[in-house]
Amino acid sequence: MAPWGTIYFLFLSVLLAELSFCIASQAYIIYMGSRSIDDPDEVLRQNHQMLAAVHGGSIEKAQASHIYSYSNGFRGLAAKLTEEQASKMAEMPGVVSVFPNKKRILHTTHSWDFMGLAADEAMEIPGFSTKNQENVIIGFIDTGIWPQSPSFNDVGMPPVPSRWKGDCQGGEPPSNFTCNKKIIGARYYLRGYEAEEESKGLTSDSDITVNFKSPRDSSGHGSHTASTAAGRYVMNMNYNGLAAGGARGGVPMARIAVYKTCWDSGCFDADLLAAFDDAIKDGVDILSVSLGPESPQGDYFSDAISIGSFHAHSHGILVVSSVGNEGTRGSATNLAPWMLTVAASSTDRDFATHVLLGDGTSLVGESLDTFQMNRSARTISASEANAGYFTPYQSSFCLDSSLNRTKASGKILICRHIDSSSESRVAKSLVVKNAGGVGMILINELEDNVAIPFAIPAASVGRVAGDKILSYVNHTRRPRSLILPTKTVFGSRPAPRVAAFSSRGPNSLTPEILKPDIMAPGLNILAAWSPAKQNINFNILSGTSMSCPHVTGLVALIKAVHPSWSPSAIKSAIMTTATILDKNGNVITADPEGHAGTPFDYGSGFPDPKRALDPGLIYNAEPEDYKAFLCSIGYDDKSLQLVTGDNSVCTKPAPAASNLNYPSITIPDLKGSYSVTRTVTNVGEPRSIYHAILSHPAGINVTVVPKVLVFERYGQKMNFTVKFRVAAPSKGYVFGSLSWKAEKIQVTSPLVVRVQSSDTGLS
Ligand SMILES: *[C@@H]1O[C@H](CO)[C@@H](O)[C@H](O)[C@H]1NC(C)=O
Ligand SMILES: *[C@@H]1O[C@H](CO)[C@@H](O)[C@H](O)[C@H]1NC(C)=O
Ligand SMILES: *[C@@H]1O[C@H](CO)[C@@H](O)[C@H](O)[C@H]1NC(C)=O
Ligand SMILES: *[C@@H]1O[C@H](CO)[C@@H](O)[C@H](O)[C@H]1NC(C)=O
Ligand SMILES: *[C@@H]1O[C@H](CO)[C@@H](O)[C@H](O)[C@H]1NC(C)=O
Ligand SMILES: *[C@@H]1O[C@H](CO)[C@@H](O)[C@H](O)[C@H]1NC(C)=O
Repeated sequence: MAPWGTIYFLFLSVLLAELSFCIASQAYIIYMGSRSIDDPDEVLRQNHQMLAAVHGGSIEKAQASHIYSYSNGFRGLAAKLTEEQASKMAEMPGVVSVFPNKKRILHTTHSWDFMGLAADEAMEIPGFSTKNQENVIIGFIDTGIWPQSPSFNDVGMPPVPSRWKGDCQGGEPPSNFTCNKKIIGARYYLRGYEAEEESKGLTSDSDITVNFKSPRDSSGHGSHTASTAAGRYVMNMNYNGLAAGGARGGVPMARIAVYKTCWDSGCFDADLLAAFDDAIKDGVDILSVSLGPESPQGDYFSDAISIGSFHAHSHGILVVSSVGNEGTRGSATNLAPWMLTVAASSTDRDFATHVLLGDGTSLVGESLDTFQMNRSARTISASEANAGYFTPYQSSFCLDSSLNRTKASGKILICRHIDSSSESRVAKSLVVKNAGGVGMILINELEDNVAIPFAIPAASVGRVAGDKILSYVNHTRRPRSLILPTKTVFGSRPAPRVAAFSSRGPNSLTPEILKPDIMAPGLNILAAWSPAKQNINFNILSGTSMSCPHVTGLVALIKAVHPSWSPSAIKSAIMTTATILDKNGNVITADPEGHAGTPFDYGSGFPDPKRALDPGLIYNAEPEDYKAFLCSIGYDDKSLQLVTGDNSVCTKPAPAASNLNYPSITIPDLKGSYSVTRTVTNVGEPRSIYHAILSHPAGINVTVVPKVLVFERYGQKMNFTVKFRVAAPSKGYVFGSLSWKAEKIQVTSPLVVRVQSSDTGLS
């Protein structure tokens, strides 16, 4: 080809780049509530017309800008628009909200670091038949799945339930994805991702090989979450010999439906909504969503996960989600009351890595270290090995190129770690390795106990152990140390503890709704993995991404035993039977400080599967209750009807948000006194008597009317009122609980109260 051709081509692409810069179009979601039209072709035609109206009447331009139409669970579309076109569409009749195609993040603490713990908790429940789990279908909105993993084999599974309407998309070669009787459906969504990351889209062959234009999982995250909830029993599951043993998910016979929406850079709203829309149509029973927005979360109806979950819930699907990994107060996400939001805890298994100092001291840290160090080595602070322009302080973090090879060679380096969002711990071990170091002691100021497979012999230690090591090194002429291989140990510390990275309440959007709802294991979890990038079939990971599918498995178990229960009944059963005590009988503590935990850390507490199957009473909430909730947070009749697609109206005055029939009670601004009502439904013994047991939040006088609930039949409903009165001054949030106790059953709700700052309690 003549050189001119090339030049012309270059010129054209420069011009295009400039043009797109001028127009600045991006993808938007046009959300239109639950107005339903049965014919998808008609929906597409109407959507094209709406788009044509902002494209000067051109149907061609409208078609080019169209990305998705949503028509199953709710109505809406995604399209490439300019800001001006987007705001014009927001004015059109029937449009509830218009928002940019934002990116959501997987809730693993570091997708580049391995983290995690045991999936071997036996979930045998004496007295209940869980055989029906083969009829429970769990949808996973995630990074896809590795179908050849032994966790997803279908040996001995009965035929696919006939009500299943899903699809199995094979995707493009070389993925050759297939379903079986375990993975009964699989779809993938790429258009919302490509609209934002066109330049980075899956265009080159290597991208397709590595990321697969198919439901196949290249990251490992989706295989991990699916196997934690519903993996088959695998006899010899281990990570390089660590944590060895048989392992399985919570409901090994339940069915898996895969919705791959997450790609290397994240998960986009347009794709997420398409996944929810299909999952509702396909007929899943439960959706597991181990991802979410970064905090602070936006409004419910400008967030694809909240919107998708709202409609899933009104179709009888419970959405289980992760609270996030930001760890700080108020950072909780996935805040909508129609979701079940999960915090992360430790388990009783630790990956202990011992460091022996030259003076005989032995200190314990954690990692996933399978190296055998045969001799101790000279040990220095990485700040002493600073290279070139790096200051000793900068080098102490072992950042890329910050270490001097001459100084580091043959030594164990002590490195610091303070920030998970910008620093990779595995990368630090590679920096030390590349500088000739033979080992690393990482002083981890986050104290999050996350066990990581470093590139060289290494242990991550907390601040106290770190100070001891530094002091030894500072005061010794030729300091040496030896890092021993990691050992799996059980019961060495109280468990469960709230994981340091788990995001905390209060709810930044609706403080009347407590979030998180519940806590489950999310620290150092062993489960299936994708061999696409690392050649391993199992991996140990940490994050609320890992705690979410533990609760998903439990939800599936309850669904198997009680198929007719509503999403909120199942949620209530899990929450009201949870415990706030650890295995030693003390109040669960929260890492890293180790203080006594509160409902902002763990919600209702740590689940008890056996009790959750027989909860006695449930706090049910129907779609009607969520409509009232929307009125209480400021929706008027018009906006309510747009979302619900019917003639619902708000009662005047709208009920308070605290009155949503939720299994926890939160009063964020108590002044004088305030009452809330709740309704419980008897799902236990027909004739039963429950007595109220109160634990008063400090300085608050709580009374319950009536104090005794007498039931005569199954399904009977009873109302009660809880009155809160300021009795003594208190600052900030205070916590208590209300339990309804019958013979063998206890139904507990956390009470969370903050006295309005102007009310000293003395008036
Ligand atoms: C595709 O199928 C072949 C033959 O079954 C298999 O060897 C190969 O690993 C598959 N590809 C992937 C990406 O798993
Ligand atoms: C330690 O010794 C074993 C057996 O002698 C050897 O295989 C291994 O490579 C040695 N490790 C190191 C780090 O030198
Ligand atoms: C590394 O340290 C050696 C010995 O102290 C010194 O001679 C050399 O200049 C240093 N190199 C760099 C890149 O800092
Ligand atoms: C060790 O010495 C370094 C400076 O070399 C100092 O910054 C650090 O505080 C000392 N640490 C301890 C525990 O003595
Ligand atoms: C709470 O208030 C009730 C009624 O006003 C009163 O009888 C009771 O003694 C109070 N309890 C406490 C602990 O203050
Ligand atoms: C409970 O309260 C609701 C609404 O306040 C009312 O409609 C219902 O009849 C009450 N149920 C009982 C059993 O009192």
